[in-house]
Amino acid sequence: MKNVGFIGWRGMVGSVLMDRMRQENDFEGLNATFFTTSQAGQPGPDGAPLQDAHDLPSLMKMDILLSCQGGDYTKAVHPGLREAGWKGYWVDAASALRMSKSSIVVLDPVNRKLIDEGLENGIRDFIGGNCTVSLMLMGLQGLYEQDLVEWTTSMTYQSASGAGAKNMKELVSQMAELGDAGRYLASDPAAEVLELDRLISAKLNDGSLPIDQFGAPLAASLIPWIDSAMDCGRTREEWKGMAETNRILGTEAHPIPVDGQCVRVGAMRCHSQAITLKLKKDVPLEEIEALIKGANEWVEFVPNQKADTLARLTPAAVSGTLKVPVGRLRKMIMGPEYLTCFTVGDQLLWGAAEPVRRMLLILLGRI
Ligand code: HSE
Repeated sequence: MKNVGFIGWRGMVGSVLMDRMRQENDFEGLNATFFTTSQAGQPGPDGAPLQDAHDLPSLMKMDILLSCQGGDYTKAVHPGLREAGWKGYWVDAASALRMSKSSIVVLDPVNRKLIDEGLENGIRDFIGGNCTVSLMLMGLQGLYEQDLVEWTTSMTYQSASGAGAKNMKELVSQMAELGDAGRYLASDPAAEVLELDRLISAKLNDGSLPIDQFGAPLAASLIPWIDSAMDCGRTREEWKGMAETNRILGTEAHPIPVDGQCVRVGAMRCHSQAITLKLKKDVPLEEIEALIKGANEWVEFVPNQKADTLARLTPAAVSGTLKVPVGRLRKMIMGPEYLTCFTVGDQLLWGAAEPVRRMLLILLGRI
């Protein structure tokens, strides 16, 4: 039985991972050890004392380490483990090692071949991708796989969960305060809507809403900036779009351009994306639809109709599920090679926990 150490299992992504693993009975047939950065010695989820997540000798006893602890922890511990000669597999949800030459960014429905080749070639670091990139690729795998895509623009509508647990709470607190302020006018049929709007606008701007996490109101607003500034006016989140898409697809030598604007919106845990694709040739819409549908078992094609869109292509409909619906598909007026579509996915499942969970299953020889 493999010894598998878990770090960061109590945080948001880690908790989603633990839930998925319990749901699927993944803990059967492995020796799990739970590590902690702050509560060593206290009882863990299996009753055994938690191990110190900074103690290299304890970590080195593991065949596989799976971390959802975050990039700072990875940077603090991973180099030391490798320098000390640890030969185990490191599976990580954080971005710290994604661009390292000795890692593979994992999204197995899309790049299982790359993962298997990496395993054969002695790669030992397997890293989950950026949520937006993974969700885009899960939705549009069929088109990339056929080498049909000349370039992609993705305009994102990213949920609060992508920024962290405290941000989700801050969003709801902002919503609650706005709700409290506007309730009596919103429910009064005789009230002037512009009076309600004035009241909400004043509340958004009077400095009373909690904004410690986001730095600006998100409820009843949006924030067109995610992560830090990079070159060429891009944010880091926008930069990841191209860098990680090509890393996952194994197309870094001849990268497919991916660019767009990443925007935080008031959704809880589903990222959405409005995508424009330029195809390398004119492909009939029915063929495109078939390619999208057939690519993996989680993608769902949503007909470009209002009722289907409202029922199936929203964060509310997708949250908490592994579905990756793709809809609003049509050719654009720019020409027959220009395609637009919309896709939604759970940022904590396929966007974070599921790719690393499945990488663990691959290492255990279960899938
Ligand atoms: N960077 C993403 C976001 C989350 O801020 O939504 C994780 O990939």
